[in-house]
Amino acid sequence: MITHHQKLTNWVNEWAELCQPEKIHWCDGSEAENQSLLDEMVASGVCIKLNEAKRPNSYYFQSDPSDVARVENRTFICSEKKEDAGPTNNWASPVEMKETLKKLFNGSMRGRTMYVIPFSMGPLGSRIAHIGIQLTDSPYVVVNMRIMTRMGKAVLNILGNDEFVPCVHSVGFPLEPGQKDKKWPCAPIEQKYISHFPETKEILSYGSGYGGNALLGKKCFALRIASYMAKKQSWLAEHMLIMGITNPKGIKKYFAAAFPSACGKTNLAMLVPSIPGWKVECVGDDIAWMKFGEDGRLYAINPEAGFFGVAPLTSMKTNPNAMLSLKENSIFTNTALTPDGDIWWEGIGYDAPEGTITWTNEKYDPKVDKPAAHPNARFTAPASQCPVIDPAWEDPKGVPISAFIFGGRRPTTIPLVHEAFDWNHGVFLGSIAGSEVTAAAIGLKAGVRRDPFAMLPFTGYNMADYFNNWIKTGEVAPNKNALPKIFYVNWFRKDENSKWLWPGFGDNIRVLKWIFERCENTVKAVRTPIGYLPSIESIDISGLEKQAINLSRLLSVDKDVWKEEIALIKEHFALFGDRLPIELKNQLIALENRFQ
Ligand code: OXD
Ligand code: MN
Repeated sequence: MITHHQKLTNWVNEWAELCQPEKIHWCDGSEAENQSLLDEMVASGVCIKLNEAKRPNSYYFQSDPSDVARVENRTFICSEKKEDAGPTNNWASPVEMKETLKKLFNGSMRGRTMYVIPFSMGPLGSRIAHIGIQLTDSPYVVVNMRIMTRMGKAVLNILGNDEFVPCVHSVGFPLEPGQKDKKWPCAPIEQKYISHFPETKEILSYGSGYGGNALLGKKCFALRIASYMAKKQSWLAEHMLIMGITNPKGIKKYFAAAFPSACGKTNLAMLVPSIPGWKVECVGDDIAWMKFGEDGRLYAINPEAGFFGVAPLTSMKTNPNAMLSLKENSIFTNTALTPDGDIWWEGIGYDAPEGTITWTNEKYDPKVDKPAAHPNARFTAPASQCPVIDPAWEDPKGVPISAFIFGGRRPTTIPLVHEAFDWNHGVFLGSIAGSEVTAAAIGLKAGVRRDPFAMLPFTGYNMADYFNNWIKTGEVAPNKNALPKIFYVNWFRKDENSKWLWPGFGDNIRVLKWIFERCENTVKAVRTPIGYLPSIESIDISGLEKQAINLSRLLSVDKDVWKEEIALIKEHFALFGDRLPIELKNQLIALENRFQ
């Protein structure tokens, strides 16, 4: 491909010299290119084309069993100073990391093609979007990046001679002459390095072909590097879904929401409301980039173009819009494969047909306690196929955000919903977000795993400075009255018999309705020590009479339990030492005082 971008050409040539690929292919993003890559992968047994009648134009991949998820302990933030990576990241010296990686990348693409992928995170030409170029030796990555980003020739045209974020990826499995390739080439765990150089805006990823380790536009660029760019340039790069909500009068608002893993973020982004007259539309399910617009409001874009969703438990019941999004033109990784050439996973809503093959390519036996799909099996589906995709999802201007919502899985303590008193109190709520985990779940101490702003594995710099970027956003806002209101929700409160108190899923619209009406100032709230709460009458539970929803329980704020919570927040904040913004220290003191 012809580009007059000398720096880009030089950079590609330098890496090609080091990695020694057999050839270089500049991706144009065309349908023909995509098809020929998929055909080659089918021909070499790397993937299977699914039954055209059941799942048109869709493909099935099984990864190596050692390469099934993001590897947080092999993910590095390589800032000049260790303290700039902060207490929540793995730090490595940029010089040393580059030395280590230069050795690994040396010859790492032998026998393979190096693909050059120009991609835009965000609608082409949006003032909120940014461009990256990924080099990779994985055709699987190319076909996924084509769904997940705007990719190809058009991006180079927009780039002109401007700066781009350089992203280099190799699966780390060079082929010697005559050596047979693996179905899913990758390097052993101790050779995997997902490394980020925030100060120079570079990404070097070695040894894994899976998800966020390899599709570098997503977590590596759109969150870790972009969060650093956002701090430098006063904007926000967040691990948030973006949803549009329209009330029965036809008034529409947009909310952005952050939840730790396993809280149903994709389900919420595409929720099917259980109360009549309300409509939810999806702008994005994972990442939001936001800047102030000329009117002083905060505008958000979804930098991605597809969904890379967890497949297990997704069904026509839990998330029909996701199921419809993946009905064609999709890629499936580590799901199970049915004998008639379709996909299957646990919780899809029907039994696996006889003869189903597991993600490890064995015959599935439902009597054996081994899942057919890997718990982190994924679908890659174009966002444009979502039946409730928002009409403005590709608007380069973005959509104006009225509310931020934080949450987590908390069986006790946190009420169904509460609203921050003001911006800084809202930042405090984001900074203490987290989920309760059992010891077995992560092999650590049981208790609340804090995941501030759901950004724990995704902030590319010191988390305390990241908090400060949020505080600063409130200060530099051109119109303080136009700042989004901030809320905290908890769908996961349980009673003493460990039974959920709230039905969740489509009924979460009832909470979103209260939030919507708070943004309109049309519903009252009760002031409590932790924030504004709905009065019991103001949550619409019409139609749920049979379920005997215990709203007073769901909305209770218990002083003794909050004393314990405050002690836990102190422990969490202690991690950040003196770097914790004074505003957050003061928020904690004020919370404690309100309980006196
Ligand atoms: C994701 C994640 O895959 O947050 O989106 O882990
Ligand atoms: Mn995510």
